[in-house]
Order: sequence, then C-alpha cells, then structure tokens
Amino acid sequence: MRSLLFVPGDSDKKLDKGLASGADALIVDLEDSVSIDRKAAARATALSFLQNGRRDGLKLLVRVNALDTGLTDDDLDAIVPGRPDAIMLPKAAGGVSVTHLHAKLSAREAIAGLPDGGIGIVALATETAASLFTTGTYRDSSPRLAALTWGAEDLSADLGAETNRDEHGRFLDPYRLARALCLAGASAAGVSAIDTVYVDFRNDAGLRRECEEARRDGFTAKMAIHPAQVAVINDVFTPTPEAIAHAHSIIAAFEAQPGAGVVGIGGKMYDRPHLVRAKALLAKTRKPG
Ligand code: COA
Ligand code: MG
Repeated sequence: MRSLLFVPGDSDKKLDKGLASGADALIVDLEDSVSIDRKAAARATALSFLQNGRRDGLKLLVRVNALDTGLTDDDLDAIVPGRPDAIMLPKAAGGVSVTHLHAKLSAREAIAGLPDGGIGIVALATETAASLFTTGTYRDSSPRLAALTWGAEDLSADLGAETNRDEHGRFLDPYRLARALCLAGASAAGVSAIDTVYVDFRNDAGLRRECEEARRDGFTAKMAIHPAQVAVINDVFTPTPEAIAHAHSIIAAFEAQPGAGVVGIGGKMYDRPHLVRAKALLAKTRKPG
C-alpha cells in the first residue's frame, strides 16, 4: 500500500471521486472532516459505500471518532457490518488504545457474523502531547495492528503552537520528533509506518520532496487529502527499477557467499541490515496491496 486518500464520510460525491483517484486505499472519515450534526448521516453514507464501493485491490478504511468522544461505539455499530479492511483510530494513546479498540471490534464482528480479527487497525499515534510518550507501547497490543501513522495538525493545537511548519514548508522540531517517534514505534511493533498528510495540496514539488524524505527514512506509504496528490505519492513509493536491481544484487552477493556476514559490491560494504532492507524492498514489489 503506497497511498491512502482521506475522503469526508458524508460526501457521496467525494467518495465517488475517490474511487477514480488511483489511491491504493481510501480512508472514509467520520472524524475531523465531518461536523457533529453530520455524524449520523456520515455513518449511513459510509456503510453504503463499504457495501457498494468495493473495487479489486482497493482497501477501504474508516476513521472513527476517538475513544474519549463517546462517539466510537455508534461509529463501529454502524460500519462494522460493511466489513472495512481496517479502522483508523485517531488520538491513540499507545497500545492500550489499540487493545481497547480490538475488544470493541471482536464483539461487533461476532454480532455481525464476521470472522474474528478480520478487521485491522491503523493507529494515529502522535496527535496529542501525551501520546508522544506512548509511541513505544504498541508492540503486542493487538494482532489487528497493521500500521502506525502520525498527525501534526491536532498535535500543534494541543501544544498551543502558532504553526507546525517553517517558512520553507518543513516541519518544525516538535513535529519532526513526532514523526521519528512514529517511525520508531512502528518498527518496534513490527508494523508499517505511514507518513502524515501534506495539507498544501496545490504544491506538487513540496509534496514530492516530503514523500522522498519519508521513503528515505523508512515510511512505506503516505496519506493524501486531495486526489491530485495520489499520483505523486504512488510514484515515489513505487520502488524504482534501479532500487529493485540493487536489492537483487545484494541478495545474490550473500547467496554466492553462504555464511558471510559482510560482502563488498562495487567498492561498498554491505552487511546484514542491508540484506534485510533488500528483502523488504523486494517483498513490497511482490505484494503491492
Ligand atoms: N476525495 C475525493 N474527492 C475530492 C477530495 C478528496 N479528498 N478532495 C477534493 N475532491 C474533489 C472535489 O470534490 C472536486 O470535485 P469536482 O471537480 O467534481 O467539483 C475535485 O476533487 C477538485 O477539488 P478542488 O476544487 O481542488 O478542492 P475542494 O476545494 O473541492 O476541496 C478540500 C478541498 C480540502 C476541502 C478537499 O480536498 C477535502 O475534503 N479533502 C479531504 C479532507 C479530509 O478528509 N480531512 C481529514 C483528514 S486530514
Ligand atoms: Mg485530526
């Protein structure tokens, strides 16, 4: 999965547009992009979309409202029967939040007659100041946990900041910390890390730079807020032929010297971590979903 496009859950029109966007996944949003008096309508629209919007290879996620809002149970009651691929949990406060959501999902899967554990969880791990201190607690929180991602908009509000980016559009220190904690937390939990949204949706060059920095650092995908962002994200997160060939050459070098802990290719040293990375990259090309 390379690109995940947010679509407000109360907009039939945008949900339709999302289907044509080329995104690998749509995140049907019941949270921040839906006003409080539209929540019920959005739940009904989201359910009908889950039932009718299935397309080969397209993952459908639903972002529910946070556990402390009192809205999560109604969100889940409405949309679990539509069997989303995963629930995105905003304002997650560590592994305990994921375990909590896991239990809620298990009960509803049973009621709906769905297989236990079929619905995954993607946690938004950095939206509050307190959550930054819990990013290392996701390991073993639930077998449903598929990925961590991070948010800078709610975090900047919680921190009382004036802005989260500098005059060149780069994230400021508190958000770079959140980004790094998400990456480390995901890796420690053995799940993927997904980069946050780029809100300046007419700035393709800025988006591309942010995607490249994310891929470089270990993120495997990025969220989008506008269909026009999808092509850039897919492009950057699709491994290039050069990267694939390089990965093959690392694996071949280790296979040629069984038992070697380190090999030299073209005057550069490669050891076990490089082999792990090469295998991970090739695994991605085999399983684009
Ligand atoms: N998903 C699907 N379609 C979208 C879309 C999205 N996220 N964002 C825009 N579109 C559609 C628009 O409806 C419009 O359709 P039209 O040509 O038939 O009128 C077309 O793409 C072009 O949109 P544009 O005019 O460039 O933008 P806009 O001013 O209509 O919308 C936003 C701007 C930010 C309101 C919109 O992109 C959006 O709703 N994004 C998602 C917000 C969200 O989910 N936030 C929560 C996570 S941070
Ligand atoms: Mg938010």
